Amino acid sequence: MCGIVAYIGKKQAFPIVLKGLKRLEYRGYDSAGVALLNNGSLNIYKRSGKVSNLEGFALKSDVEGNAGIGHTRWATHGAPNDVNAHPHFSNDGTLALIHNGIIENYDILKKDLTSKGYTFKSETDTEVLVHLIDDIRKNENVWFGEALRRALHHVVGAYAIVVISKDEPNKLVAARKSSPLVVGIGNEGDFYLASDATPIVEYTKNVVYLEDEEIAVIDLAEGLRIYNIGDQEKTPYVQQLELELAALEKGGYEHFMIKEINEQPRSIQDCFRGRLNATEGWVSLGGIREYEQKMINANRMIIVACGTSWHAGLVGEYLIEDLARINVEVEYASEFRYRNPIITENDIVIAISQSGETADTLAALELAKSKGATILGICNVVGSSISRITDAGSYTHAGPEIGVASTKAFTAQVTILTLMALSLGHKKGMINDSKFHTLLAELEAIPDKVKTVLESNKAIEKIAEEYKNASNALYLGRGSSFPVALEGALKLKEISYIHAEGYPAAEMKHGPIALIDENMPVFVIATHGNSYEKVVSNIQEVKARKGKIVAIVTQGDKHVKELADHIIEIPETDEFLVPLLATIPFQLLSYHIAVMRGCNVDQPRNLAKSVTVE
Ligand code: G6P
Repeated sequence: MCGIVAYIGKKQAFPIVLKGLKRLEYRGYDSAGVALLNNGSLNIYKRSGKVSNLEGFALKSDVEGNAGIGHTRWATHGAPNDVNAHPHFSNDGTLALIHNGIIENYDILKKDLTSKGYTFKSETDTEVLVHLIDDIRKNENVWFGEALRRALHHVVGAYAIVVISKDEPNKLVAARKSSPLVVGIGNEGDFYLASDATPIVEYTKNVVYLEDEEIAVIDLAEGLRIYNIGDQEKTPYVQQLELELAALEKGGYEHFMIKEINEQPRSIQDCFRGRLNATEGWVSLGGIREYEQKMINANRMIIVACGTSWHAGLVGEYLIEDLARINVEVEYASEFRYRNPIITENDIVIAISQSGETADTLAALELAKSKGATILGICNVVGSSISRITDAGSYTHAGPEIGVASTKAFTAQVTILTLMALSLGHKKGMINDSKFHTLLAELEAIPDKVKTVLESNKAIEKIAEEYKNASNALYLGRGSSFPVALEGALKLKEISYIHAEGYPAAEMKHGPIALIDENMPVFVIATHGNSYEKVVSNIQEVKARKGKIVAIVTQGDKHVKELADHIIEIPETDEFLVPLLATIPFQLLSYHIAVMRGCNVDQPRNLAKSVTVE
């Protein structure tokens, strides 16, 4: 987490860095800071709270300078206050540094540097870096870029770092390991650096994604040079950004989250564009095509992910096991990586990640790779770390997701998993042609059906009004609707801070039923399908204990309507595709409840969109 931005060139750095920080605020928003180089002086401005606090504070000064570095923080070590905010600077005020990641051995380094006389102003792990570089620079008599390279040999942990020096105002040096960093090559001999491409796209489409343990040396006289930490020079691989600026704006909506919820008819369509043709009867995920036979023959597939992406993985498990009859396990990446899992060369490990940067998911993949498994990725962010280390994969093409609570990325992930299940199932002969064609046609109709669900927005807002003051909520579903219940509960708790739990409906009897009284809303997915009658019985059990039922039902359903306090209808579809529709009312419900409770929907407290620390 944390977002970093830097600029060096002829333009004023402050507006560029500040705008970039606002775009990166989804990565952390507890404090922010910038350092600007102006005519031989290095000025640092830092403030706790959001980037707008920093802006108000810094603009009281003249904020001039053609080189600058900026940071928006998500605290790991040390409280979110002005002092702990980045940039951190050397004791003599020559160097300033920003960092995203965690320095695991900071304690030892700090003791050593303290014994050499360095004083620490903050409680952060980051500050050791700037003193370490400064120490090497002075003692080994090298310039600050070389000092950074040497310093990295002493550092254990994850980092994206940018350093600026008052002594060499034409240079910026950056390095990365496990935390992302992109260099933008400007059109006016200038350069940009950022945690992702969103602060850069406005100025240039030419970017270089740094690889692990690479160092970027930017010199206005000599341009961009890339080295590894062994000091071997590498040829920069310049890529063209496909990102459009408009996709990063709110487009008239009050929040990114509601914009992104409403984008789902298009994002799902974009996800299967060119990959599905119901009329001609084919489905094809180009990115993984050459691995499909391996997937069919695999011992099992292991899906690793975190948060909402883990929920998508659970939906995938139901789909792939049922349609393709391949054994699937879904693991929290953070647990998987540390429990010495049994993995063989016949396993396929699939990471699902919106950002493609989640530290635990990345580490889980690295572990699987080291044991010889084939590793695949389902990512949204093009060029992200996960997409680059995997053998192959499929992008979700949902477009940038800025709201911290994931919405359109989830439905896009489920769409990819559905395409995968259909493709594998058909190739393996587990689905006959007629069922295959029916499912393809149903899937193709999903974007229009999502539009229909979105038309219930006003009705859902009214339901939200009724439950906005609840302290607890229960979400129930069966089969592939169980992960939808988990996702519904997660959406509510992360943005409205109401305690919510998702359960398989039948499990309710084994504990949660004890909580049910007239104050407990129970949100149930009760659509037509195999377990419909069973879910209806669960609803009756809740009603017998005076619980309140809000049920998602298939259009035209009469039975549940009589039992439930509120119903939300979704169009009829095949049971396999219900998650794509049923999840949307829960997103809207959480959104409205959070807005009514005055919560910061796009930037919920304590959360960050991209969790690049373990
Ligand atoms: C954070 C975000 C979640 C997201 C999870 C996994 O917790 O707030 O919305 O689901 O990380 O992120 P990923 O980018 O790997 O999907």
